[in-house]
Amino acid sequence: MSDLKQRNIIVTGASGGIGRASVVAFAHAGARVIMLDRDIAGLNDVVEQVSASGGAIHAIPCDVTDEAAVAAAVDEITGRFGVLHGAFNNAGIEQSHLPLHEISADAWERIIKVDLTGVFFCMKHQIRAMLASGGGSIVNTASALGAVAIAAASDYIAAKHGVLGLTKAAAVDYGPNNIRVNAILPGIIETPMILRLSQEANFANQFQALRERHPIGRFGKPEEVAAAAQWLLSDAASFITGTSMSVDGGYLAI
Ligand SMILES: NC(=O)c1ccc[n+]([C@@H]2O[C@H](COP(=O)([O-])OP(=O)(O)OC[C@H]3O[C@@H](n4cnc5c(N)ncnc54)[C@H](O)[C@@H]3O)[C@@H](O)[C@H]2O)c1
Repeated sequence: MSDLKQRNIIVTGASGGIGRASVVAFAHAGARVIMLDRDIAGLNDVVEQVSASGGAIHAIPCDVTDEAAVAAAVDEITGRFGVLHGAFNNAGIEQSHLPLHEISADAWERIIKVDLTGVFFCMKHQIRAMLASGGGSIVNTASALGAVAIAAASDYIAAKHGVLGLTKAAAVDYGPNNIRVNAILPGIIETPMILRLSQEANFANQFQALRERHPIGRFGKPEEVAAAAQWLLSDAASFITGTSMSVDGGYLAI
């Protein structure tokens, strides 16, 4: 059902937890996966991991906040492989963990730049390529915090709500061009990002309560998010656009 054979698909944030699991899943489903990340050592590590199992993957070091680099990456992909069929815009960074009135302009801009503007740059150039080839499917990683709030995360929450807005707006703009755009709202997923957060004084003490806040009684695994992204990217989701899928163990159901 979630077949991705013959598809050229970008994954951003490919060196991290959700990105890496998605590269593995998409390659296993038959896609040629083009991995974008600013973490070059991490990219090399994934290339080694996936190539060993025979997956078709390519790494392009790229910072998603650099529009020229994003445009060049998309051009390199269409130049080498002809068509861009899909993209999973997943690169992101965590919140600064301060109440709103203590967030500096620099911290605000850094988070908005990666978590919102980076998605905008990626979509802008991916859509340019998809318009030229007759369509495609884009999935953006927002967060459960794209729909609700928690304390001391207003920078991240604003960015992720913005990703949902961008997703809906692009679905409306490009539905007539056969380009579908959807978002995923993960709950807490066990990745390097969450490992970093678990070591933050302000956050570590909330961990048990957060686990209990997920009705399913545990945090998610990166592979569980990858499976949802894979399905949305595939033709199995051919009538789905402008929506968001919670992958959150019921977090948003409470
Ligand atoms: N882990 C969670 O609980 C959780 C929950 C909800 C949403 N998310 C979102 O899922 C996405 C992936 O998160 P993760 O948990 O796998 O985090 P992670 O830290 O494991 O991976 C993030 C990846 O993004 C890359 N990245 C960061 N900034 C970049 C930039 N400017 N350009 C290119 N690459 C960049 C990092 O190098 C890293 O490889 C993020 O958008 C995050 O906000 C995560």
